[in-house]
Amino acid sequence: MRSPYRWASLVLAVVAGACGDSGTQGPGGSGTPGTGGSAGSPTEVALPWPLTEFPELPDIAKDVPEERIQLGYLLFFDPILSIDKQTACVTCHSEQWGMADGLARAVGHGAGLLAGPGRRGPNNLRRNSPTLYNLAFRESLFWDGRAVTLEEQALTPMFAQDEMAADPAEVVVDLAGIPEYAERFADAFSEDPRVTIDHVASALAAYERTFISDLAKYDAYVAGRPELMNEDQVEGMFRFAEMGCDSCHAPPLFESETFANRNVPEVEGIVDHGLEELTGLEEDRGRFRAITLRNLRNSQPYFHNGSAITMKDAVRHELVQSGMPFTEDDVHLITVFINKALRDETREAIRPASVPSGLQLSIDPSGSR
Ligand code: HEC
Ligand code: HEC
Repeated sequence: MRSPYRWASLVLAVVAGACGDSGTQGPGGSGTPGTGGSAGSPTEVALPWPLTEFPELPDIAKDVPEERIQLGYLLFFDPILSIDKQTACVTCHSEQWGMADGLARAVGHGAGLLAGPGRRGPNNLRRNSPTLYNLAFRESLFWDGRAVTLEEQALTPMFAQDEMAADPAEVVVDLAGIPEYAERFADAFSEDPRVTIDHVASALAAYERTFISDLAKYDAYVAGRPELMNEDQVEGMFRFAEMGCDSCHAPPLFESETFANRNVPEVEGIVDHGLEELTGLEEDRGRFRAITLRNLRNSQPYFHNGSAITMKDAVRHELVQSGMPFTEDDVHLITVFINKALRDETREAIRPASVPSGLQLSIDPSGSR
């Protein structure tokens, strides 16, 4: 019986009828019909935490020229940014795998066009590819928070020897030599129409900021549509809060700038000290970022090293870490809450039929969806 605790923490949020305009429509963002509340009359929804509004888009993501976003979109899928001309951002951040890759740990260039869990190659990374949702709201990036801006981040994989290993000068020459790209850069950066590495980063970042997840069932629920979360999902949400999960995976983004050591089992042969590698502080050993729990349904395996194969495995591990007694029923309901209520694929990337370089796109015959 854990009800007394639960009801003590219950918040009855009174939501005004109208759908809160979070101002986060991405390109092609269609919006889920009917996520707004019934006009006028306030609706009460049961929440285990105080109602928090979805954050506003930061200024850098506002009024971005559509041409820049479109350019970023094409670059994201185009293997031209890699040394082997077969590896693109989408190889490891695919819409087929919740913007990740279905692998425990990412596999870089030299592995051919095959993406997904069957990808094998010489460049094996020590970390799991994270999903790319709600990056626009983030203060730090990567599992250890070592990058701050998406512009800065985008160049890391392009030039990392085990990821895309591109040569900056070559990338610029290659892109400028393709008439469609030369034209698209000029349209995207009218104040300085050149093809530059900074413009590549800026376009990729502009595109990445459009991966928003704010139309999940949970969002509809808090906006005054309680019927959009079923009993199991609501129960899972309360148990999630009861177990203290929300202290790090805080609503509405279900993440935070908390770096914690969750005692994730090590993988043989891999040394990864997490935040300690940045700060040099022993107390930071094994600390990683409290990653978002939104849109995780297809991005298995989980944790920084992919050591949890399924969502249930990850949730069970996190429940053990909570130090409170729990049952398999808790595992099940919390998993249902994360997988079903925190999922919004309305802004999911749509793979282009071709890219301006004419190179072949990665292939993922095993996509989970
Ligand atoms: C070989 C696979 C691979 C490729 C290719 C790749 N990434 Fe990643 N990406 C990863 C991995 C692994 C991480 C996590 C690394 C870490 O935290 O140390 C990551 C992290 C990120 C993050 C940070 C996400 C977060 O939650 O902090 C962003 C953003 C990102 N990648 C964007 C890109 C872009 C843009 C490209 C193309 C220029 C790209 N990636 C290419 C594997 C890849
Ligand atoms: C003290 C902060 C903290 C608390 C409390 C916490 N988590 Fe986490 N969670 C993290 C961190 C940090 C990670 C990344 C750990 C790693 O990979 O080493 C994580 C990872 C996860 C992941 C894997 C996500 C992915 O994409 O790989 C899931 C699922 C998860 N947590 C669920 C939960 C649940 C359920 C609870 C409550 C039982 C919970 N967490 C409580 C900090 C926390």
